[in-house]
Amino acid sequence: MLKAKSILLGVSGGIAVYKSAELVRLLVKEGASVHVVMTANAQQFVTPMTFQVLSNNVVGTDLFSMESESRISHIQKARLPDLIVLAPATANLMAKMAAGIADDYLTTILLATTAPVLVCPAMNVKMWEHPATQRNLRTLVELGYRIQPPAVGALACQEEGAGRLAELGDIMEGSIRLLTPPSLAGKTVLISAGPTWEPFDPVRFLSNPSSGKMGYALAKIASRRSARVHLVSGPCCLEAPAGVERTCVTSALEMRDAILRLSPDADAVVMAAAVSDYRPSERAIQKIKKAQQGLSVLFEPNPDILAALGEVKPPAQVLVGFAAETENLLANARKKLGQKNLDFIVANDLTRKGSGFACDTNEVKIIERSGAVSDLVPMTKEEVASEIWNRVEQLFTGAKD
Ligand code: C5P
Repeated sequence: MLKAKSILLGVSGGIAVYKSAELVRLLVKEGASVHVVMTANAQQFVTPMTFQVLSNNVVGTDLFSMESESRISHIQKARLPDLIVLAPATANLMAKMAAGIADDYLTTILLATTAPVLVCPAMNVKMWEHPATQRNLRTLVELGYRIQPPAVGALACQEEGAGRLAELGDIMEGSIRLLTPPSLAGKTVLISAGPTWEPFDPVRFLSNPSSGKMGYALAKIASRRSARVHLVSGPCCLEAPAGVERTCVTSALEMRDAILRLSPDADAVVMAAAVSDYRPSERAIQKIKKAQQGLSVLFEPNPDILAALGEVKPPAQVLVGFAAETENLLANARKKLGQKNLDFIVANDLTRKGSGFACDTNEVKIIERSGAVSDLVPMTKEEVASEIWNRVEQLFTGAKD
């Protein structure tokens, strides 16, 4: 997402400046071309040389540099970037921006630019909570700046509270969001993810090795594209992606209830969860004791959530399923596509390395209602998610035409 993007990193003077050096490294690693501009105070914490070496570009420090100002460099610098990230943004920088003050290189660029700006505040908790800073924050939001809120925790000044620079991963994600076209804006999407647990006593259950990664990747990419995202998740260890509304469930019956409650408002539903096909007919109240003889558990079928959605699907809703198979991939997937009334199905062969449960990559085929089959090369689950949303978006536009 950041490949060949030009990012201007504005650094103002707070102790978190040292973290911005790492941010430059991460941005460059993702393929961005990074130009750093430092305020005079920032240079008291870390020298421009550090940023110059990490970004491989000259660091801007001085509005009145004879050499660069012969080319009116602050205006050029303001035109150049696809995105400006301010990290750390001090209370002083925020105040100047709110007032429209342009008295140094960075603030002059900020007044002259039309690029989106991500403001990442970092300061002492009292400074953050001060009514003047909070008023400036509101003004910045009104002016169209995006804010990456500070994290809560231990601060360099030995106090606790809000004011730590946001985690670098969150700043990276915030940057990617600002650079992603909002192609799903105004749409509500519903995604299921992860396994289900079907308990037969208080400590034992039937399940499968689903990690939830595919469903969470779908939620993350849809949210980046500005959809309203509901994620119904079975038990897994993943954090909800930024901006996603998550409902956590355990069993298939709980998942069905959550999905059926949320689906009528969804423009698209993607069922990526590995729902257990069976649940134990009975659940012991106490832990079943170990015994010499074997243990027999009787299972009964779980409802097929996707098939139920297919039966009541509104005409404009896009319905997508997954088919994880160990044999006859295409034939089985095609059968499910028809039986469950889907718009398309994403099929993966569980016997292939780098595909299916728990890995970061997936090798899938997408089968459409028309019968067309797209054979995708092995790619990350986020890339598979992008391919899926591209197709959903095509179906949305097709429905409008
Ligand atoms: O029939 P099969 O279980 O292979 O179908 C897989 C698709 O159906 C997946 O999209 C899965 O999320 C969904 N499914 C469901 N309810 C079930 C079983 C599967 O919604 N009980």
